[in-house]
Amino acid sequence: TAEEPAAASMSSGPDQVPPRPEIFDFQGVSMIHFFTDNWENIQNFQARPDDILVATYPKAGTTWVSYILDLLYFGQTERQTSVPIFKRVPFLEITIPDFGSGKDDADNLPTSPRIIKTHLPVQFVPKSFWEQNCRIIYVARNAKDNAVSYFHFDRMNMMQPEPGDWSGYVHRFMEGKLVFGSWYDHVNGWWKKKQTYPKLHYVFYEDLVEDTGREIEKLCCFLGLSRSDEEKKRIADGAHFDNMKKNDMVNYSNVVVMDFKISPFMRKGKVGDWKNHFTEAQSLQFDEDYKKKMTDVTLQFRCDI
Ligand code: A3P
Repeated sequence: TAEEPAAASMSSGPDQVPPRPEIFDFQGVSMIHFFTDNWENIQNFQARPDDILVATYPKAGTTWVSYILDLLYFGQTERQTSVPIFKRVPFLEITIPDFGSGKDDADNLPTSPRIIKTHLPVQFVPKSFWEQNCRIIYVARNAKDNAVSYFHFDRMNMMQPEPGDWSGYVHRFMEGKLVFGSWYDHVNGWWKKKQTYPKLHYVFYEDLVEDTGREIEKLCCFLGLSRSDEEKKRIADGAHFDNMKKNDMVNYSNVVVMDFKISPFMRKGKVGDWKNHFTEAQSLQFDEDYKKKMTDVTLQFRCDI
């Protein structure tokens, strides 16, 4: 059962926050308007050959990997203490009235390379990323922990649809009725793409938790970067959960639509927290359904490490 009462999420957000958005079907994928309003501009986004795209299903470790990449490329420069991570690594498809768009932020990024984040399923990625042969890092997380993390995020983020209670939420996860659609389609679609697009590096959240240093090494290899052992250690340390949680430039504090009293953005950062949420019956039903949907045996997740 959920540790905190889901009813907490039923309360309305601060006055300045508009009502929560409705979810709708968009070309076969569940979406909200914040991610489709600027569709044509997003689809026409002009990628550059050295752009790096970080793609994930929401809550798979996007911020963690974005921060690691930012540190790998730009180190401990002044921007680390003055520019929040969501400005350093723009969220391509987001458009919020009065706050601007991720696409514009990406266009205006002064860095080279530009590191850009997306939650789009593979079929929605703007075609110039493929044409420019950009490097792409996909981060995936086991379904159960991903669902738990998304549930708490939807409770605290007033720009996400109302999550309701946990048992209804698990079912909507299984049906693919959450923002950015089906987790199963997302991780499989990107996995399949990897077979034909060599510049795609597929990272598992569980591997990152198990050995961050090893995964940083693999990232360097993929990106063609050489960094000293000392530097890589410093990055792994700076990007440790406890340090990120304390770091106001990466922990999303002060984002008005997120209510940390309900749940913090940097929540637990663990593998296996699903055991504190799924009942035995929910877990069994989830596993049965999972087997039917995840038929590619080459894609294996760990729900425990
Ligand atoms: P939990 O809710 O399970 O704690 P995203 O950045 O894609 O939104 O993912 C957020 C999830 O990644 C949250 O999971 C968050 O705590 C976790 N996370 C962020 N930084 C992390 C880190 N350095 N180590 C482990 N987990 C991290």
